[in-house]
Amino acid sequence: MTPEIAVSEERPLEAGCDALVVGAFQAEESPALTEHGRAVDEAMDGRLGCHLEAIGFKANPGNVVLVPTGGATSAPVVAVAGLGPEPEVSTSQVRRAAAACARSLGHAAVLGSMLHSDGPEGSAAAAAEGYLLGAYRFTAHKTSPPTTKLSRVLFFEAAADEVARGVAYGSATTLARDLVNEPPSLLTPEVLAARAAEIASAGGYTSKVWDADALTLDGFEGILSVGRGSAHPPRFIRLDYQPPEPKAKVALVGKGVTFDSGGLSLKDARNMETMKTDMSGAAAVLGAMSALAALQPQVHVVGLISATENMPGPDAMKPGDVIKHYGGTTSEVLNTDAEGRLILADALAYASEQGADAIVDVATLTGAIMVALGGKCTGLFSNDDSLAQELQTASEKEGERNWRMPLFDDYASELESEVADIKHIGGRYGGSILAALFLRRFVGKDIPWAHLDIAGTARSDSASDESPKGGTGAATRTLLAWIEGRG
Ligand code: BES
Ligand code: MN
Ligand code: ZN
Repeated sequence: MTPEIAVSEERPLEAGCDALVVGAFQAEESPALTEHGRAVDEAMDGRLGCHLEAIGFKANPGNVVLVPTGGATSAPVVAVAGLGPEPEVSTSQVRRAAAACARSLGHAAVLGSMLHSDGPEGSAAAAAEGYLLGAYRFTAHKTSPPTTKLSRVLFFEAAADEVARGVAYGSATTLARDLVNEPPSLLTPEVLAARAAEIASAGGYTSKVWDADALTLDGFEGILSVGRGSAHPPRFIRLDYQPPEPKAKVALVGKGVTFDSGGLSLKDARNMETMKTDMSGAAAVLGAMSALAALQPQVHVVGLISATENMPGPDAMKPGDVIKHYGGTTSEVLNTDAEGRLILADALAYASEQGADAIVDVATLTGAIMVALGGKCTGLFSNDDSLAQELQTASEKEGERNWRMPLFDDYASELESEVADIKHIGGRYGGSILAALFLRRFVGKDIPWAHLDIAGTARSDSASDESPKGGTGAATRTLLAWIEGRG
């Protein structure tokens, strides 16, 4: 259940809630309560501080301790959440602390939060995000879902619009996670397109969906080729969020492979297990699009998704095939498991015709990015330093780690083909860079473009901090913060 986040005018110590949440900084020897934490401590005649001292509480982000208030406040319990050393406290620590509380306070129906009150600017939004991110569970297909009681979080002394901004970011991520976690038989390209259309009509955006006939008519052969081995035909999806007087225009492109078996270059069973998540780029784009109606940035945002299955059916694309992509560039296919770049090529060529100031694509593109950066860092590639910097700033603000990767021009010689304009794979090493170099070929001249390879960050093997096990919704919030920064 997604808790409702509300602003309360009540006095925190007298408010009707099951637990009050306050922050503590980690000091040299012992934790130091925040100003609002000290107010609770005073009401408890110093017992709160003594308790923390006695149990040796370490006030690091992610650590939470519950202490009974014994009638000193209306809430029977105070939850103290660690924020780390005071000088280093940023909104990321506040977000993480809120997520930890949502995770560990499932027995309480109503939380009263003062976590944001002693943090830096933007803490109320970050805390609202954190509560939503930490409370997330995917229970759609459990016949008896595990129950958590948490239904409401009250924010004291908070600006309603700031809290609403955090709720918009958190809900966008929830939507992305739900899409990623949905089983692949239920989330086919057709269903993904229908979900996109629903998101568009809910937000008042226009939308357009290309079915197989329309894709053929318009020459989207990359998407069609990858989709050919599947019983579920592919789709290309466009959503437009367009304010009356936009200051900028950007295009977002998402990889929406609803299941990646590898095609004829079939994956082994273990590597296929998680491949329902190969539409996480599309999920991030749709999650971000869903929040624009509430956030109202002055930016025209074109959301584009290439949606397909990659299956080894009777008419499947074969190694050796040559594809004529949207816009006319031809590519030689050698390994059908490198399908993501083929469907993104069409989308990037299409995006390049839309007059956007910048294009950002998001994709679970390469296993190699996990080798390079591990599972908790997105790979960022860009042909434009200031766009790269904007995305770095946005991701830092949202606590989503990413690292800039190089686009070495000379590596592109590995992609030279005997029979087509470009080969879609190169040698064994530097796989993420080669994939990004392939994509770059389809971006219009002089258009700032960035590529986020989220193969490592889109799903998590274990629950930690604000990220659950399974779909994480990676890049959704980075996209939103970036768009808001443009308008
Ligand atoms: N969807 C995969 C990439 C991936 C791997 C995402 C692991 C998440 C976790 C992509 O389509 C793929 O299969 N890439 C190949 C490319 C290779 C054949 C050049 C890969 O990374 O092995
Ligand atoms: Mn693949
Ligand atoms: Zn894939």
